[in-house]
Amino acid sequence: MAKEKTLYTCTECAATSPRWLGKCPGCGAWNTLIETVADSPGGGRNRLSTPQYAGLAQAQAVMPLSSIEATEVARTASGIEELDRVLGGGVVEGGVVLIGGDPGIGKSTLLLQAMDALQRAGLPTLYVTGEESGAQVALRSRRLGLEASAVNVLAEIQLEKILATVQATQPAVCVIDSIQTMYSDQLTSAPGSVAQVRECAAHLTRLAKATGIAVILVGHVTKEGAIAGPRVLEHMVDTVLYFEGDTHSSFRLVRAIKNRFGAVNEIGVFAMTERGLRGVSNPSAIFLSQHSEPVPGSCVLVTLEGTRPMLVEIQALVDSGGPSPRRLSVGLERDRLAMLLAVLHRHAGIASADQDVFVNAVGGVRISEPAADLAVLLAITSSLRARALPKGFIAFGEVGLAGEVRPAPRGQERLKEAAKLGFTVAVVPKANAPKKPIAGLAIHAVERVEEAMQVVRGLE
Ligand code: TYD
Ligand code: MG
Repeated sequence: MAKEKTLYTCTECAATSPRWLGKCPGCGAWNTLIETVADSPGGGRNRLSTPQYAGLAQAQAVMPLSSIEATEVARTASGIEELDRVLGGGVVEGGVVLIGGDPGIGKSTLLLQAMDALQRAGLPTLYVTGEESGAQVALRSRRLGLEASAVNVLAEIQLEKILATVQATQPAVCVIDSIQTMYSDQLTSAPGSVAQVRECAAHLTRLAKATGIAVILVGHVTKEGAIAGPRVLEHMVDTVLYFEGDTHSSFRLVRAIKNRFGAVNEIGVFAMTERGLRGVSNPSAIFLSQHSEPVPGSCVLVTLEGTRPMLVEIQALVDSGGPSPRRLSVGLERDRLAMLLAVLHRHAGIASADQDVFVNAVGGVRISEPAADLAVLLAITSSLRARALPKGFIAFGEVGLAGEVRPAPRGQERLKEAAKLGFTVAVVPKANAPKKPIAGLAIHAVERVEEAMQVVRGLE
C-alpha cells in the first residue's frame, strides 16, 4: 500500500496542520493534534475522515423518519448467560464492542470462552492476538478445556494484514486482543499511541459496518489516566463494557457503560476458576458476608444494577479520629459520604465530625446509585452506637439534603428479591411501600431520615 501523506488533526475542532503543533491553529486548544491519514489531495474529505467521525452512519437520501423501516438487529446469544446479559442479548451483526479493564483481570479468558461458544453456535470466529503468540493462546485454551475448539487464531499486529485476512476468511465475529498492540502502516506513530489506537479502531469499525462482521476490541485501562486507553474509543463503538473487580477476590463484574443495542448499567457476574470464568447466577450470595449473628456497622442494601436487584452488604466503621478525621469509602462515592454525614448531623442530630468514618461495599462491588444512601446512613449509625441492626434487615432509598428520604426506582422488585432471599424487616421510602403486603417481610415506610432512625431504634 502506497504511503499517503500524514496530517495532524485536532481532536476538538478537526482543524488540520501538515506539522505537529502544540497549540491547535483552529481552536487554540493545547495538545489536541494527533496524526491522521490524509486520504484525498486537497483535503476535501479530511473533515469527515478524521477518526472522530468514523463510527457515523453513511450518507443516504433524505427521508421522513416515518418511512424508514425500523429493522430489528440480528443477534446471536453466546450461551454465556452473564455475558449475553450485558451485551443486551448477544452479539449483534455489524456491532462493535469495546471491552476494557485492567491487565490480568480476565478479558482474554472471557473472550476465548465466548468465541468458542459462538463458534459452536454456528458463527465462524476469528481471534486476533497481538499480545500473545498462537502457542500461548493454545495453552490458555487447554486450561479452559477448549482444546478441540474450532476458533481460528491469527497472531498479527499489523492492521492492513488483519483487514486482508478478515476479508479473505469472512468470520462472523472477530476479536482484536488488544487494540493497543495494533498499528497501521499509514501512520508513523508507535502502536498504542492515541493516533494508532484511533486509526485502527476507526478502520475496524468501518469494516464492521460495511460487512456486518461483529468486532470486539479489547482495550487495556492504563494507570496513567488512560490517555491511549479505551476511553478515546468510547464514542466510536456501539457497546462499551468494563471489567471490574478486586484482583484479590475471584469475582469479576462486567458492566455495560454504553450500549446502542441494550440497557446500560447491566452487569454480569463471574467467578474466576481454575478453568476460566464461570457465570454466577445468584450474585447476592457473594456480596453478603456471612455473619451468624448481626454485627454493628452492617446494613444490607437492595441495589438495582441494570435490570436485576442484588443484595449487597454495606459496612461502616466509625471510630474516634485524630485532629483531622478521615472519611474513606470503598465501592461508594466519597463525596456522597461527606454529604450524608452532614445530613445526619443536621437532621438527625447525630454528630461525627471528630470521628473517622470508613464505609465499604462488600465483595468489591461498586455502587453508584443514590438509593444506597439510607443503607449507608444506617450502617454508620449502627457502628456509631455499637448496636447491630435486627436480623434479616434490609434498607434502600435516596437521602436528600433536606433530610427527606426519596423513592428508589422499582422498589417492588427490590422488596420481592429481599423477601425471596429470606429477609424479614425493611426500612424503605414511603413512596416505595407496596399496596399489598409482601409475605414474610415487615415493611416500615419512612419519609425522613430522623424517622428512619426512630424506626430502627424501635426495632432494637
Ligand atoms: P487474562 O484473561 O489473561 O487477562 P487479560 O486478558 O484481561 O489481561 O487473565 C489472566 C488471569 O486469569 C491470570 O492471572 C490467570 C487467571 N486465570 C485463571 O485463574 N483461570 C483460568 O482458567 C485462566 C485461563 C486464567
Ligand atoms: Mg489478555
